Amino acid sequence: MAKYRIAWMPGDGIGVDVMHAARLVLETLELDAEYVPADIGWEFWCNEGNPLPERTIEILKSCTCGLFGAITSKPNDEAEKELRQDLRGKGLSYRSPIVGLRQLFDLYTNLRPCKAYKGNPLNYKDNIDLVVFRENTEGLYSGVEYHPLPDEVRHTLKAFNERMSRFDSVPGEEIALSLRVITKAGARRIVRQAFSYAQKFGYPTVTLVEKPNVLRETSGLMTREARAVSNDYPEIELWETNIDAQMMWLLKNPNDYGVIVTSNMFGDIVSDLAAQLVGGLGFAASGNIGDNFAVFEPTHGSAPKYAGQNKVNPTAMLLATKLMLDWLGEDEKATCLENAIKQVLAEGTVRTYDMSGQSTSMDMAEAVRDRL
Ligand code: NAI
Ligand code: MG
Repeated sequence: MAKYRIAWMPGDGIGVDVMHAARLVLETLELDAEYVPADIGWEFWCNEGNPLPERTIEILKSCTCGLFGAITSKPNDEAEKELRQDLRGKGLSYRSPIVGLRQLFDLYTNLRPCKAYKGNPLNYKDNIDLVVFRENTEGLYSGVEYHPLPDEVRHTLKAFNERMSRFDSVPGEEIALSLRVITKAGARRIVRQAFSYAQKFGYPTVTLVEKPNVLRETSGLMTREARAVSNDYPEIELWETNIDAQMMWLLKNPNDYGVIVTSNMFGDIVSDLAAQLVGGLGFAASGNIGDNFAVFEPTHGSAPKYAGQNKVNPTAMLLATKLMLDWLGEDEKATCLENAIKQVLAEGTVRTYDMSGQSTSMDMAEAVRDRL
């Protein structure tokens, strides 16, 4: 029996293209793994009314971790139109399967390393090495939202906070409300992940990015927990910054920062900026990590216009594969893969279209393979 069972989820569009690249390098690295195909994505929404079928969840439960390509998602009205005829009008609604997986398996850490590899013509500056830890299950994306605002919710809020009276004259139909829920345990565990990563990989600082001067309660709680956790890591400095100023500092002095930790929506924003500093979607990989399970993916989507063309940059997918190897404790294979990717980028002869080259996805994957 293989040491690892890896759920293999290419999904839609270019997800399929880039997963071919991942398979090539994993087979070359001779990872002792069985790859278990699992259905996910738009096709399963259209044909079954569920982009994350129950059988896929069962497969995931039997696996060590998952590797995921990308999925297509569309707004509600379009989603309904593409459903199989007999499934329409039954109240089925599309839910993002990746968000579903995060919640179902409590994958609370969203890990997004962003390194400016030498030779990447898309780097904004040299030597950028950022690692964003985004809380992945709560915060402003907890899904506790109201529109219209029910009277009971309004009255209860008002009973506890007189500032709610400011909206007395606005009818419930004209109010939308999204709750930013931060729990002490949620704050503590994401910060601990960030510090432990900084320690393992030798980063001297962890920067907490919040807005405690305005979001006094939620960002305040994040700040208190970060300070408490930082006591356990005296060799690592905790920096505290505000999200708005941090965006300016990241553009101005990206080299000053290492590990960054933040709540869900701020992390969503910071990580996209950080990714763009080192080449954008073709280079941005992420891990969705829980205590006992994880799913690794490039952060790009299914890019339908390039689907099946063997054209897009597989580097993000290969870096996601590297993150998976790290998580599995296959440190040597992870380093070997990262070094091979580094070499190909540094040599600069094999480049996909986004780097103004002519090479295909598999040309790049094969170049990486040849250097493993
Ligand atoms: P996208 O990420 O699929 O593509 C946007 C553009 O970025 C592409 O047209 C292409 O020019 C470039 N690009 C993306 N990946 C690239 C790569 N590996 N190499 C080179 N260039 C690359 O985003 P878009 O077009 O907004 O969404 C397309 C579909 O993907 C939608 O249905 C969307 O909902 C879904 N999506 C899925 C995600 C996921 O699976 N995690 C994330 C983002 C979008
Ligand atoms: Mg995002």
